[in-house]
Amino acid sequence: LFMEEFIRGLPKVELHLHIEGALEPELIFALAERNGMTLDFPDVAALKSAYAFSDLQSFLDLYYSNMQVLLTEEDFFDLTLSYFARVARDNVMHCELFFDPQAHLARGVPIATQLAGIERGCQEALRRFGITSHVILSFLRDMSEESALETLEVALAHRHRFIGVGLDSAERDHPPEKFVRAFARARQEGLRLVAHAGEEGPHHYISAALDELGVERIDHGVRCVESPALMSLLAERGTPLTVCPLSNLYLKVFGQMSEHSLPRMLEAGIKVTLNSDDPAYFGGYMNDNFLAVQEAFGFGRGTWIELSRNAIEASFAEPTRKREMH
Ligand code: ADE
Ligand code: ZN
Repeated sequence: LFMEEFIRGLPKVELHLHIEGALEPELIFALAERNGMTLDFPDVAALKSAYAFSDLQSFLDLYYSNMQVLLTEEDFFDLTLSYFARVARDNVMHCELFFDPQAHLARGVPIATQLAGIERGCQEALRRFGITSHVILSFLRDMSEESALETLEVALAHRHRFIGVGLDSAERDHPPEKFVRAFARARQEGLRLVAHAGEEGPHHYISAALDELGVERIDHGVRCVESPALMSLLAERGTPLTVCPLSNLYLKVFGQMSEHSLPRMLEAGIKVTLNSDDPAYFGGYMNDNFLAVQEAFGFGRGTWIELSRNAIEASFAEPTRKREMH
């Protein structure tokens, strides 16, 4: 109980959060009503009963379907502020959030509308809760590299509104190599680079993201334990992994939390951080993830402090903000 209070009270940094994955069922219904849309589900309870996933794709199908209620700048603002209001209670002090512009462009929502709503939500979070944040534009890897490049060009008119680019969506059969030109272009613009790799996909996608795309952080990366050579490399280079324990459980990457590769990665000296991924879908926000890990592994204070320090160091926060957070 003492450790639970200690973990709840720890100041936290979230580096792997899809803002569309923070869309709660209640907000889906509220936005649908505001936008005059009819959902496939009669009520919140019926929608929630569909939240049972067998793998990444089964989740993504519902995730993309639900986000269709996001149409206006106000919708993106309400979503963003609802996330920050929730994690202020978990003592989150800094967050780097992903958004999936291609998913909204496909419905005719301009990138300017998406970014304006998200940015205003971030500014309000700073004002109300003192939480700092950055936005990362994520390419959908199950779409073409041409689409990623076009999206990036349109987004560059708002270059100051995002700090970097990422790579997400269906991983299998969509290796990092597919996006070499898109990441090279982003690097040219001075953007920070991250990519999802080794969540469902094989460990060599992690190596490819590092070597072919030149990313600074790996999102998930939990399958690195299948290659001892890769584990040594990650530890040597100090490459941060943004691990999402409840997500991995809900998407059946691991059968049980006790089977999660987190302790093996820590043991190998890899810079692991803990995050929530899509908290409205995977049973919880930051504290829920932290406490699920503690229940499975019973870490001591030293490990929790190490995880917290890793997240501050791995963030793209300004040096002065990093010092403040330490
Ligand atoms: N998009 C939202 N959540 C994701 C995840 N866990 N993996 C890949 N793409 C995602
Ligand atoms: Zn993710």
